[in-house]
Amino acid sequence: MNNTHPSRELKYTADGSATLYVPHWDEHYHSVHGAIQESNHVFINAGLKYFIEEYSPDVVRIYEVGFGTGLNAFLTAKWALENQIRIEYYSIEAYPLSIEEALSLNYTEGFESQWLILYEELHRVSWNEKNRISDYFSIHKINGKIEDKMNVKDIDIVYFDAFAPSAQPELWTEDVFQSFYNIMSKNGILVTYCAKGAVRRAMKAADWKIEKLQGPPGKREMTRAYISK
Ligand SMILES: C[S@@+](CC[C@H](N)C(=O)[O-])C[C@H]1O[C@@H](n2cnc3c(N)ncnc32)[C@H](O)[C@@H]1O
Repeated sequence: MNNTHPSRELKYTADGSATLYVPHWDEHYHSVHGAIQESNHVFINAGLKYFIEEYSPDVVRIYEVGFGTGLNAFLTAKWALENQIRIEYYSIEAYPLSIEEALSLNYTEGFESQWLILYEELHRVSWNEKNRISDYFSIHKINGKIEDKMNVKDIDIVYFDAFAPSAQPELWTEDVFQSFYNIMSKNGILVTYCAKGAVRRAMKAADWKIEKLQGPPGKREMTRAYISK
């Protein structure tokens, strides 16, 4: 992968929510069975809600791999505001969308206008510094590559949402999972839509404990990994 991004096309997934498609890699940004459905299942339910139910933290620190369309960040911020749970959100992205691309996606359709304002703000805020969105949500978008050294620590949840290992095998390696292991809090977890054997073996080699969970509709399994347990 070099630093110029191949073209992206707008597509609609089975639950009616939009996604982007990269013909060059034959890769979608989300499951074609439903982008919002997948994000809720893998990241919000199996990640965020699980962690809060299990540990009742005062504040949750999340690190996302691939800000992309901002869908995971948006659903997490919306959840934080609605449930009054404090979240500090980090998200790394090598190839940010333009604001026009972001606003062409229909993630806030049918919601009150405050949620469109929130979605747009998540895209418009500056990169490489912390931005306070509300009492309950801050976001620090990092314009960089996950292979680079990470300057964060005490992360509770990693949302590992890179393109599939078939498109970007270099992001699903023992070294990458080791670098995440090193920045986690003591109860830290990692969630990903990916359930591939080779990926789970790479996680295990980096000392993560693996749990297989039911995947979102259209996908048999997903993975949740733990530092301890
Ligand atoms: C599956 S998509 C992310 C979906 C995103 N979480 C969302 O909700 O739209 C993968 C993302 O990883 C980004 N990416 C690709 N290579 C990367 C790298 N080496 N470091 C950081 N981000 C990368 C892509 O540009 C893309 O936005």
